[in-house]
Amino acid sequence: MTLKTEDLLKVIHSAGVQAAADTGNEPEPELTQPISWPITSTVGPGLEGAIACESKVGYVNGAKGWLVYRGYDIFELCANATYEEVCYLLLHGELPTEAQLYAFKKKLASYRYVNGTLRVLMGFPVEKMNPMAALRLGTNLLRQEFSFIDIDIPGDDMGFDEIIAMDDDSFAMETPPLGEKQATYEFHQQSRASHPRWGDQLHDAKGYEAAYHLIAGIPTLAAAISRVRQGHMPIEPDPHLSLSANFLYMLTGYQPSELEERMMDVCLILHADHGMNASTFAAMVVASTLSDVYFSVGSGIAALNGPLHGGANEQVLKMLEEIRSFGDVQEWLDERLMNKEKVMGFGHRVYKAYDPRARVLGPLAELLTENHEDGKSLLSIAKRLESEMIDRFGESKKIFPNVDFYSGIVYNCLGIPADMFTSVFAVARVSGWTARVLEYLKNNRIFRPRAIYTGDFGKTYTPIEQRQRRDTIQ
Ligand code: SDX
Repeated sequence: MTLKTEDLLKVIHSAGVQAAADTGNEPEPELTQPISWPITSTVGPGLEGAIACESKVGYVNGAKGWLVYRGYDIFELCANATYEEVCYLLLHGELPTEAQLYAFKKKLASYRYVNGTLRVLMGFPVEKMNPMAALRLGTNLLRQEFSFIDIDIPGDDMGFDEIIAMDDDSFAMETPPLGEKQATYEFHQQSRASHPRWGDQLHDAKGYEAAYHLIAGIPTLAAAISRVRQGHMPIEPDPHLSLSANFLYMLTGYQPSELEERMMDVCLILHADHGMNASTFAAMVVASTLSDVYFSVGSGIAALNGPLHGGANEQVLKMLEEIRSFGDVQEWLDERLMNKEKVMGFGHRVYKAYDPRARVLGPLAELLTENHEDGKSLLSIAKRLESEMIDRFGESKKIFPNVDFYSGIVYNCLGIPADMFTSVFAVARVSGWTARVLEYLKNNRIFRPRAIYTGDFGKTYTPIEQRQRRDTIQ
């Protein structure tokens, strides 16, 4: 059966109808009325239930399984919007006019060229690095190339500043005066004239330009990292393609069909924003110190990497393949739970109902695996695991599939390698991270929670010779 875009729309529409029937879509009053600080909230470990700030960017109704971006229901956006429109909406609060969207897409298309950054990044052993570590490194390099924020150029000199090292392949190092010959090096510090981009598009690393640059540049970095990990050269961006189509093209080397482009759009929209999740919170904590957007996004990437957060999607695919070779879903699950291991792709700190994003990704996986044998067998295992988990924990522990449970099967069918699934999550979430960081900075207050101290008091110093040897180092 040849899939058509209408098939995708049908999936989204019926998921939205089902969600509305199941949830009713009433906002939780205690989480959607303006407040006056200070407030009291019941807080559990890991800041569960804590209110960190007010926001208009997005709302997650955990009890009902409902997700809203700037007032638009997620199903509404998946059915009608492109990912660029949703980026603009998250950042600026309204869907763009035609002229605004044209200018925004043109700017994003120009920022997707990050050749200088790629040249430096490819000097690192990217093929051996954790892809998210490489992406985070790339984000730092993007900061350096475009924001020029750190280099304090004295005056408007045209020549080289003071020479500090000679040999380009060496590192300026202090050689201890231990009788060895003092090594001399001559590095040339860059000056304003020599910087390739000085004067054009240099921007403040704390503003919207940095956000646009990251939203457009990070897909290019992620795709290049993927290509190198597969033993290929990076593919140059195509300025005529949308962000989603260009990302798939740079990842796979093939121009995606209109349907594949729409599917990538829907996946990026579904992953774009999600309230005060760990990686968004990490990004905002960094921004609240008045660091900058690049460092914030770097922290978001670091937090997203964890298997309890964005790293779960890659773990789910490994888990499904493990079950397939194990043979029996129930037995596998019994053993997993007996070992007190979490089942990846299930459960959520906020959703105590079916994750609305899984309501789209599940049927999307079904659509895509129609003509995909491997995907079809993984999907049938996923479906059996889902019903087993819901039978056992749906009512008792409110455990349901989350966004990561089906996304891997969808990405697999789109030709995205499993080791890049979390990076795809980061490519989408940069829009949510930057939207919330820039919103928070408008009324900034450094994040500084407290910890309960349960340690000792009144201890006196014991000279080391009188200390008892302890079995383990504390
Ligand atoms: C994302 O926050 C966000 O919005 C995140 C995210 C986003 O868009 O940014 O939605 C994306 O990160 C989704 C989550 C991806 N992670 C996983 O799929 C990893 C598996 N899930 C779990 O680790 C867990 O569900 C968390 C981390 C997602 C949430 O954990 P909580 O809220 O801290 O819940 P918990 O660990 O305290 O569990 C409560 C109970 C425990 O049982 P008891 O000790 O009470 O008997 O539920 C059990 C847990 O053992 N449980 C699970 C389980 N998740 C919870 N048991 C087995 N498998 C699981 N997946």
